[in-house]
Amino acid sequence: MTGCHDSQAENYEAEVRSRLDDYIRENYFEILDTVIGRADLAAGLKVLDIGIGTGLLTERLPRGLELYGVDLSPRMLDKLREKKLPVDLAPGDFCHLPHPGEAFDRIISTFAFHHVGFSEKAAALAEMDRVLKPGGLMVIGDFMVENEAQKESLRAKFRAENRADMLQELVEEYFTDLEEAYATLGALGYRTTYRRGATLSWILRAVKAPSR
Ligand SMILES: C[S@@+](CC[C@H](N)C(=O)[O-])C[C@H]1O[C@@H](n2cnc3c(N)ncnc32)[C@H](O)[C@@H]1O
Repeated sequence: MTGCHDSQAENYEAEVRSRLDDYIRENYFEILDTVIGRADLAAGLKVLDIGIGTGLLTERLPRGLELYGVDLSPRMLDKLREKKLPVDLAPGDFCHLPHPGEAFDRIISTFAFHHVGFSEKAAALAEMDRVLKPGGLMVIGDFMVENEAQKESLRAKFRAENRADMLQELVEEYFTDLEEAYATLGALGYRTTYRRGATLSWILRAVKAPSR
């Protein structure tokens, strides 16, 4: 998996900007801004961006935050370091975050959680919970479906549009099932809401209970 994203690092941002009119990057920057808007940010908060990539989300954040980033790909982190943003960067992945418990006020992530396999999603959410302070919140913008029925309606839509490439995306990428994530987060004590950001993308927002 690391090698795959390493090879994309050089051209990632150009690829994003060249596909804004297609499903895969539909509303891309609007979704980044919605994630930021839903994160209730205030000066001094410690914010972790997971799957930070080349920093397209983090570089849009307001000033005054204490910024941290994690990514699986060393090359993505190298590209981001070239920007000289004030972000504390570390290699790591959703399921193994290199941070102590209850370290962050906010966790944000865009277009990365779909790389976590279906069998690892619950463990990844539990790991994010581990590093989030009580009363903190996480906001994830990514490829998701509400449930299997909505995924089937997407398949039908792409079959009708003769979009074999999009049907392939639905097979190859791990679109988060929102109802499953809602249940997992509920068991961890979160209040969760989600809203659609594009044909394939949703924004999930989960607030951690103040104390257990
Ligand atoms: C499509 S890019 C998104 C980058 C950035 N968040 C954005 O919105 O532009 C996905 C990023 O997630 C990283 N990634 C993939 N799997 C990951 C994992 N399991 N844990 C952490 N990062 C991961 C990749 O290396 C890549 O940098």
